[in-house]
Amino acid sequence: MGGPSAEREVSLSSGRECAKALRVAGYDVIEVELGPERGGDLVARLAGLRCDVVFNALHGRWGEDGCVQGILEWLDLPYTHSGVLASALAMDKTRAKDALRVAGLPVVESVIADADEVRARHVLPPPYVVKPNDEGSSVGVYIVHDGANQPPQLAPTMPARVMVETYAPGRELTTAVMGDRALGVTEIITEGWYDYAAKYSVGGSRHVIPAAIPGDIAQACRDYAVRAHDALGCRGLSRTDFRWDDTRGLDGLILLEVNTQPGMTPTSLAPEQAAHAGIDFPALMRWMVEDALC
Ligand code: DAL
Ligand code: MG
Repeated sequence: MGGPSAEREVSLSSGRECAKALRVAGYDVIEVELGPERGGDLVARLAGLRCDVVFNALHGRWGEDGCVQGILEWLDLPYTHSGVLASALAMDKTRAKDALRVAGLPVVESVIADADEVRARHVLPPPYVVKPNDEGSSVGVYIVHDGANQPPQLAPTMPARVMVETYAPGRELTTAVMGDRALGVTEIITEGWYDYAAKYSVGGSRHVIPAAIPGDIAQACRDYAVRAHDALGCRGLSRTDFRWDDTRGLDGLILLEVNTQPGMTPTSLAPEQAAHAGIDFPALMRWMVEDALC
C-alpha cells in the first residue's frame, strides 16, 4: 500500500481496510507501506518477506500499471488482481479503449494531445474532458462544458501529453467483476461532479444498489463489465465504470474505463457491491487470496 502515485492516500486507506478484513478472514498479515518516492529497496523488501501471497492494495502508476506486477513475477510471488499485461493495458486509457472497441464495447472517442496545445485551443468541440492518460480517482480531470469559450487552463503539474475525450453525459453507473461474475450495478449520485472529494469523503456521494434502472440496462452493464474484464485479460477483481444517458435507452450506455485495482476504502464501490451480493469484506478477501494462489 502507499507508493508514489497521485493516489497514494487512497491506496493507504484501501490497504488498511484490506489488512483489517484479511485478519478477520484468518490470515497473518504483514503490512508493507511503500514510500512516496520511487526507488529504494523494494525488491529486497519483497524478497525478504517470505510470504505466501502479496495482496496488492496499490493504485495508480507503479502499482496498477504492471510495474510492481513485473517485480512480483520476477520474485515468483503470487499476487492479487491483474497481471502485467492487463494492468499496463488498462492503465493506458487510450490503448484500453482501443482494445475495448475491438471487443465491440461502446467507448467514446478520444485523442492524445500536447498539454500546451490543449491550453491554447479547443482540441475537440466542447463538451469534452481532459485527463491524464494514466491516472485514477479523477486526479487532474477537467470538464470543458458546452459553449465554453476558453480552453482549459491545465495546471503545470499535468503531464506533457494528455487525453482529450468527448464528454459522455448521463448517470454514473459501475459494476464490479469477481473472476467471471458481475456483482451488480450501483448508481452513484452526487451534487456535482463525482470528483476526488466526492469519491473519498463520507457522504460525498450516495450509492444506490441495485441501481434503479431498467433491466436491460442493468443486464448490459453486467455483460459489458465481464466482457471488458476478459478483453483486457484481467484477473481477480476489477470494476468497470459507465455513463448512461437515460434519454437514449441502450444506445446511451457508454463504458468509461476498467479499473484493475478498484478502491477498497470505506467509501469504495466494489466491496459495497460484493457485500450487497452476499459476499462480506473478509469473504471477498479470502476469494481474492485464493484466486491469486490458483
Ligand atoms: N482508482 C480508484 C482507486 C478506483 O478506481 O476505485
Ligand atoms: Mg479510474
